[in-house]
Amino acid sequence: MKINPKTHDKFFNILKAVVVPRPIAFISTQSTKGVLNLAPFSFFNGVCYEPPIVSVAISRFAGSKPKDSLVNIEETGEFVINLVSQDIAQAMNKTAAEFPSSINEFEIAGLTTAPSDIVMAPRVAESPASLECKLKQVVAINEGTPKECGLVIAEVVYCHINDELFDGRHVDIKGLNVIGRLGGHSYCAVDNEFEMILPVYKPE
Ligand SMILES: Cc1cc2nc3c(=O)[nH]c(=O)nc-3n(C[C@H](O)[C@H](O)[C@H](O)COP(=O)(O)O)c2cc1C
Repeated sequence: MKINPKTHDKFFNILKAVVVPRPIAFISTQSTKGVLNLAPFSFFNGVCYEPPIVSVAISRFAGSKPKDSLVNIEETGEFVINLVSQDIAQAMNKTAAEFPSSINEFEIAGLTTAPSDIVMAPRVAESPASLECKLKQVVAINEGTPKECGLVIAEVVYCHINDELFDGRHVDIKGLNVIGRLGGHSYCAVDNEFEMILPVYKPE
């Protein structure tokens, strides 16, 4: 089957089903009025190591309402990416509804705030690891249209990992117990890890 994204009416669903599994950035922000916000985003990835840069693509609008996460990130220049373990998967999902910007999704999800070290927005205490981020740039895609999307590029300025999941050198990846986003309504667990050693090219 060959598919042209320009002529398929729901290519978005196909893209979400083939770019898998996706990590989930469970983003906590604080508005300029002091309201806390929490929402998940899976168009998320690492960009480079030094300095540590990550990217998250956030649609500007949910219907006609601006997404609070993008507004808060642009207005404050700060946010926290919290990892989503299986334990908080249901709570994460609750925060994805389109709540008014006056609503604190920590309360909706029954999650606890933990203070961050550098940024104002708190972390999710129940998350196994969190990355405090400072905004570098928002690249506007489809600018000025209802389909506008902000590609948020940010530097990780502080990292928190649960003590029992880090020995000072290695992260216990299985212990993080994170979930990944698949297509449709599906998610996956990280429970089938295997290793491959990076090959070294040796000229004859
Ligand atoms: C697992 C998951 C992943 C999501 N990924 C994205 C994403 O990458 N980009 C996006 O714009 N919305 C994404 N959403 C939808 C947002 O979470 C949703 O629009 C949310 O209401 C935004 O909240 P906010 O207005 O508080 O920022 C995702 C939802 C779920 C459940």
